[in-house]
Amino acid sequence: MRSSVMILWLLTGAAAPLVAQVPRPAGDAAFGTQPYERYERPQACATCHTDIARQHEQAMMSQAYTHHWDEIEYFELAVPHALTEEKVAGVKAGCNGCHAPLAFLAGDVPPPKPAANSRANESVSCDLCHTLTGFAGDTPFNFNWISEPGKVKQGPRPGVVSPHHETHENAFLRSAEFCGTCHNEQDPWGLWVKSTHLEWREGPHGKAGIVCQDCHMPPARGRSATMGSELADLRQHLFHGAHDPGKLAGAAEVRIHPETREAEPGDTVKLTAVVVNAKAGHKIPTGSAEERMLWLHVTAQDAKGTVYHLPVDRKGFADEDYTIASATAMAYQDIGEIKGIAGFAGLKRDGTYENLAPGDRIFRLPYLDPKGRMTIAQWNTASFATDYRLAPLAAVAETFTWKLPPSVAPGPVRVTAQIYYSRLVNSVAEFLQVPREEWESVLVNTHTTTFTVVE
Ligand code: HEC
Ligand code: HEC
Ligand code: HEC
Ligand code: HEC
Ligand code: HEC
Repeated sequence: MRSSVMILWLLTGAAAPLVAQVPRPAGDAAFGTQPYERYERPQACATCHTDIARQHEQAMMSQAYTHHWDEIEYFELAVPHALTEEKVAGVKAGCNGCHAPLAFLAGDVPPPKPAANSRANESVSCDLCHTLTGFAGDTPFNFNWISEPGKVKQGPRPGVVSPHHETHENAFLRSAEFCGTCHNEQDPWGLWVKSTHLEWREGPHGKAGIVCQDCHMPPARGRSATMGSELADLRQHLFHGAHDPGKLAGAAEVRIHPETREAEPGDTVKLTAVVVNAKAGHKIPTGSAEERMLWLHVTAQDAKGTVYHLPVDRKGFADEDYTIASATAMAYQDIGEIKGIAGFAGLKRDGTYENLAPGDRIFRLPYLDPKGRMTIAQWNTASFATDYRLAPLAAVAETFTWKLPPSVAPGPVRVTAQIYYSRLVNSVAEFLQVPREEWESVLVNTHTTTFTVVE
């Protein structure tokens, strides 16, 4: 005991008094340890850090508690479920550890609803992030950050002087582990229901040391505070992700080619589409993968304009059915159980989108509830089916075997592959009255190839 305290003391610098070695509470243990008043409001920081504040207001982390879908899922599903099911009782407080950390630290759970405009609404705020000094344990997850509010703001640079606060250079803020404290989540079954940081760590970006901040907080010339000096590499607080169509655009790429450039009616043509996660440092979809869908939709148009939909060829891996769009498969029955709806048959597993047809390949990680049915409740996930998402800088080939109908028109056939993304499967969204903007499908990428039908 004594020697480990000593080593810590040596590592953290000889000037630190011994009292600083008392372990700071992290994760669940930090519940109720800090009143709201210990944290400054974002408006206070905005008076000097104006641009950063305006950027942060546009990022989802400033709305992590107030955003409509978060409010609906927390108050209509998670809290009622926590009150009736012992196994998941912890989420009543736990969701807030990442979405409304000030409320969690204050022990104010469930927090007042967003309409009450309480301090829970600050969500992931400036002063929460800039008073995080480190994390407990080896792996960042389940809000195991350590918060030390006060005059000292943790930042990325040494020797920074401010009239309002002290600053402390802390390498933790430049690390992916900082983000991982909230971007990895283990549920009551011990499953990694969110693993953005773990995916990153195993992938090429993690190995090369290209951290989250490099893509989500890229540096640009500018002033951090209105009275500050110009910096060549001011960290932008964009935090743009799946809610930003520009961040999604082109995140996955697709190219498609036919095996042969000429075919006759009745022939079988094989086409191969190669899909690449070219832009993200983690899987696509990542994070809230229980809600997200990415799919490949391939159509062919003959010289007369007739359009044919081409279903993907099966590969034969375990649980493959979950990755092939179906018009009839049902799922999400646990929503009915949580809401106490007798005889609830579930909702369409793959939703109903104009540009999703039966047979399309869906890149997803199916989350299964304790009864083995697909769920969007990550806290109610007892197992996973096969992970069929796109790994960073890796490609997946999908084939389409098409027997040309006798009626296909002679001349060029244009085959188009499109990749679409939806943040929330729309059957669930419509059932829970989540606004359209949350489930609308977004075209991520497209490619067209041709071959010729000869007689
Ligand atoms: C999700 C956590 C998070 C939130 C919220 C956040 N920041 Fe930051 N901020 C960071 C990180 C991480 C860095 C350092 C990035 C790096 O250098 O790699 C940073 C850097 C900074 C810097 C120094 C920039 C530079 O390049 O010198 C300032 C100033 C700053 N933040 C102010 C704010 C203010 C003001 C707000 C609220 C309007 C805010 N931050 C919200 C995480 C956050
Ligand atoms: C009265 C103005 C003022 C207010 C209010 C203010 N800051 Fe600052 N802050 C500054 C100045 C000036 C700097 C130094 C900028 C420079 O030199 O580039 C600074 C620097 C920083 C840095 C950079 C530290 C580093 O290591 O790079 C962080 C982080 C930061 N502030 C966070 C905050 C947060 C969080 C708040 C609100 C709780 C806040 N500031 C409120 C003026 C202010
Ligand atoms: C090489 C650049 C790159 C790196 C490194 C990177 N990301 Fe991303 N990130 C992206 C792109 C591009 C997207 C948009 C595609 C998507 O939503 O999956 C994205 C999306 C996201 C999303 C939104 C996902 C969703 O479904 O809502 C989150 C959250 C995220 N990143 C967090 C992180 C964290 C945390 C790290 C570090 C552990 C990280 N990113 C590292 C490029 C990157
Ligand atoms: C205190 C917890 C916490 C920390 C620390 C944190 N995040 Fe987040 N982050 C969240 C939550 C909660 C959301 C979900 C917001 C919502 O409800 O849509 C989120 C969402 C995001 C998104 C998705 C935005 C979108 O458009 O969908 C990105 C990107 C992101 N965070 C990046 C980062 C990066 C990069 C870091 C580290 C510099 C970081 N986060 C640190 C809690 C955190
Ligand atoms: C360990 C941190 C953590 C915990 C605990 C957590 N979340 Fe999240 N949550 C996040 C992050 C980070 C994201 C963003 C992930 C992404 O976009 O990839 C997110 C995303 C979401 C989203 C989707 C937001 C959107 O705009 O698409 C909802 C809804 C949500 N969480 C609700 C909950 C509920 C309800 C609970 C409790 C049962 C909970 N979360 C627990 C970190 C957490």
